[in-house]
Amino acid sequence: MEQFKEIKLTLDKNPSKKEKYALKNLNSFFNLQDFNVTENGKEVTVKVRAIDFQKYSLISNTVEAECGLENDNIIKTIYAEIEKIGSYGIKSGKRLYVNYNNERKVRNRKEKVGRRGKYFYALNNEFIQENNLLPEQFENQIICGDSLVELQKLPNNCIDLVFTSPPYNFGLDYEDSDDDHNWDVYFKMLFHILDECIRVLKYGGRLIINVQPLFSDYIPSHHLISQHCLKRKLIWKGEVLWEKNNYNCKYTAWGSWKSPSSPYLKYTWEFIEIFCKGELKKTGEKDNIDISADEFKEWVVAKWSIAPEKKMKKYDHPAMFPEALVERVLKLFSYKDDIILDPFNGAGTTTAVASKFGRRYLGIDTSEQYCKTAKERL
Ligand SMILES: C[S@@+](CC[C@H](N)C(=O)[O-])C[C@H]1O[C@@H](n2cnc3c(N)ncnc32)[C@H](O)[C@@H]1O
Repeated sequence: MEQFKEIKLTLDKNPSKKEKYALKNLNSFFNLQDFNVTENGKEVTVKVRAIDFQKYSLISNTVEAECGLENDNIIKTIYAEIEKIGSYGIKSGKRLYVNYNNERKVRNRKEKVGRRGKYFYALNNEFIQENNLLPEQFENQIICGDSLVELQKLPNNCIDLVFTSPPYNFGLDYEDSDDDHNWDVYFKMLFHILDECIRVLKYGGRLIINVQPLFSDYIPSHHLISQHCLKRKLIWKGEVLWEKNNYNCKYTAWGSWKSPSSPYLKYTWEFIEIFCKGELKKTGEKDNIDISADEFKEWVVAKWSIAPEKKMKKYDHPAMFPEALVERVLKLFSYKDDIILDPFNGAGTTTAVASKFGRRYLGIDTSEQYCKTAKERL
């Protein structure tokens, strides 16, 4: 087993006294089994196994400042070399540079995948592959209306990505729609709208739904919605846990206290279910990719710690997306200039963020007040 990733550097000149001291200083911050640097004149060897890169960056800056190094110095060179390493695993918040693939090794993996077959539930779909242009009158619009009615005005296969969070049926006080339907009625209404979303999605387009199940009613909305999408032969691309870290729940509410009779489970996260229509790959221009390497590496780890939206009072909406959540979804799953639809657009976070990051958008909501806010945010 490899113990370290080794980087060998040959400097232009021998390290100065200050730089030698800085190297000692840098080493002192780490367990030598995780990270160490040795120098032999112009030859410098960096051995790295596992580091928390954010901390490393801080330490590196501190060492540079404390040792009074010139602008162009050995600590900076080492930092740049480590930053260049593109392949690593992540374990307990640290970048793991060696042996991170070991547990994943399966012999004859390809043949086994071939025998099993992938996404069997989505095969033999009847999606049309030909995509259509979104008619101009719908481009960059906020429409006040019922999505079930409004979506019917769109042609098939004209939207690149849908990102939405449906009303959860929790009994929230939306401006002009009820949020306490009988569950059967609720899901019928929701599935109708989702079917329309699937129809208008391009072949290769993505349907991304943020769901918070109503745990207190024992309704697994995220599973029921996913089952519906699988029945419609979408490919399940994955699930993101949106960790909101909101530990404001009482221990005894609804369940039994300190007894197995009926303990009530607490959740601090919501789910984001990601589906593809027809195929997993989405085509687009290379120049229209706007995610950075660091964002990509962090965001493909499917647990996103993002605080809930703080401006709900300001925008007078009870269940808004935080902008950071929309930014991640759009940069990770769409290209610039793509057409983004939110059929439950609320105060317009999806449309505002889509516009900010150079996507085209269409937002629909039944509430005139929310649509006004959504327009003002653009
Ligand atoms: C969970 S909120 C979405 C909030 C939004 N993500 C935001 O950041 O502001 C759900 C929204 O769906 C809207 N809504 C409910 N039924 C609808 C329908 N049939 N068509 C369109 N919008 C609807 C509600 O007015 C509400 O604003």
